[in-house]
Amino acid sequence: MSFEKVFPTAKTTPVSDEFDISATLGEGSFAVVKKGVKKSTKQSFAVKYISKANFDGDLEELGNEVHLMLDVMNSPYVVRLVDVYESEKDLILILDLISGGELFEKIVQKGTYSEADTSKVMKQILLGLMEIHAKNIIHRDLKPENLLCVSPDINAVDDVKIADFGESIKLPEDELAIGLRGSPSYIAPEIWLEEPYGPKADMWSLGVVAFILLGGYLPFEEPDPDDVEAGKAEDKELSEIVIAGKYKFEEDAWNDVSDTAKDFVKKLLVVDPEKRLSSAEALMHSFIMGSSSTKARTKALDSLKNFNAKRKWQSVAEVVMAANKLKRLSAFGSEKAKKTSKSRIKRIFDQADKDGSGSLDKEELRSVLRKIFRKSDVSFDSKQMRKYAALQIAEHDSDGSGTIDFEEFAELYQKIMDDPEIPDDLKKGAKTSEKEQSSSKSKSRSKKSSSSSSSTKKKSSSSSSKK
Ligand SMILES: Nc1ncnc2c1ncn2[C@@H]1O[C@H](COP(=O)(O)OP(=O)(O)O)[C@@H](O)[C@H]1O
Ligand SMILES: [Mg+2]
Repeated sequence: MSFEKVFPTAKTTPVSDEFDISATLGEGSFAVVKKGVKKSTKQSFAVKYISKANFDGDLEELGNEVHLMLDVMNSPYVVRLVDVYESEKDLILILDLISGGELFEKIVQKGTYSEADTSKVMKQILLGLMEIHAKNIIHRDLKPENLLCVSPDINAVDDVKIADFGESIKLPEDELAIGLRGSPSYIAPEIWLEEPYGPKADMWSLGVVAFILLGGYLPFEEPDPDDVEAGKAEDKELSEIVIAGKYKFEEDAWNDVSDTAKDFVKKLLVVDPEKRLSSAEALMHSFIMGSSSTKARTKALDSLKNFNAKRKWQSVAEVVMAANKLKRLSAFGSEKAKKTSKSRIKRIFDQADKDGSGSLDKEELRSVLRKIFRKSDVSFDSKQMRKYAALQIAEHDSDGSGTIDFEEFAELYQKIMDDPEIPDDLKKGAKTSEKEQSSSKSKSRSKKSSSSSSSTKKKSSSSSSKK
């Protein structure tokens, strides 16, 4: 065997020896999932190919997904891992085939849905989360794409399974997680605030999912740049909006929603994680326990269709622009943004220049870059952002000061807007900063080293962050 294995007991024979691989079932930001029929039994599975190239040396992190899936594999609400293969290029997970497809797709195809349907769906996810959280695991990427339906029967939407543990973490006893993870629209305020966080972060994401299912639109979104320009909306970053925790039950979309359902959403979208419902508490809520209306919500379904179409389009654009995790970081660059005026860039620069020194150091640049990239609805991690910032300073620091001034920043900003294809630079960046990164690289989120991992923090030290 000529390669170092990510998962020691993975099979190294070609998957195609045992499986007939056919259609692509789905594609996320990290992996391609295809259908595979086991030759010996004719049983169908889902085969998830996770490209090692995307992990840029952090292979331990990749093995983490396998460990966590094994940990939760007895739960009926979680996609079951059946076997693991490994080739030089990919880690390959054989999963139970979830043939009903993505939950939101199915609801839209079903053509009608009610509050009662939403309540049933929520109950399934909550039962799953309760088991996951009981094992001290935070999923960290709860969103429509990762909620799958078991039954191909179009009318059955109450058999949901939670998929994709690629962003998940298992916390050692009495520790909390740190680090920006997840997909922007679903990320909890405490994560944006860079505070240590626990399983309640998933409950926020679930609140966002529930909000979309009931209202048909995202609770937290950045204002349209045109509205900002026209003075109709305040220019705010998504993170600021989420941290403020203000969302609106638009009359049009919510007038036929019960107070009980609204109350359920309200108790999940609570900024303070301590006051947010846990999975066990949410299961006891009357929206889940009681009987909900079975009245078809036609208008909400139309909005959900729109939401889904937009989401699909976004993820297609994402896949095209971002064949790998690194590329995803640069998946932002709309026509509108290309015409960014110097004065707007100056405002961004001034905001980023926290100490008012007239130039950005590595940390300041990293944090503003993160904001810029955050506009693309994709997940990312801060380690890569640090590498990217270091690279950009090296490249744009024409006077060799180790910082970048406004002109240099404006040039960089324009470069990002004009050319979202920066992956090669990013790879270069990974190399240049390999030395300084190597110590943190050896500490990964994987199970065996998670207690020493830089991505968790003792609970006691976090109490100060609970304001
Ligand atoms: N077990 C499965 N059965 C059927 N489809 C699946 C299964 N697992 C994943 N998919 C599809 O593939 C997509 C990507 O898989 P996921 O595990 O979420 O990968 P990523 O980590 O790249 O997001 C999912 O959104 C879903 O549409
Ligand atoms: Mg996914």
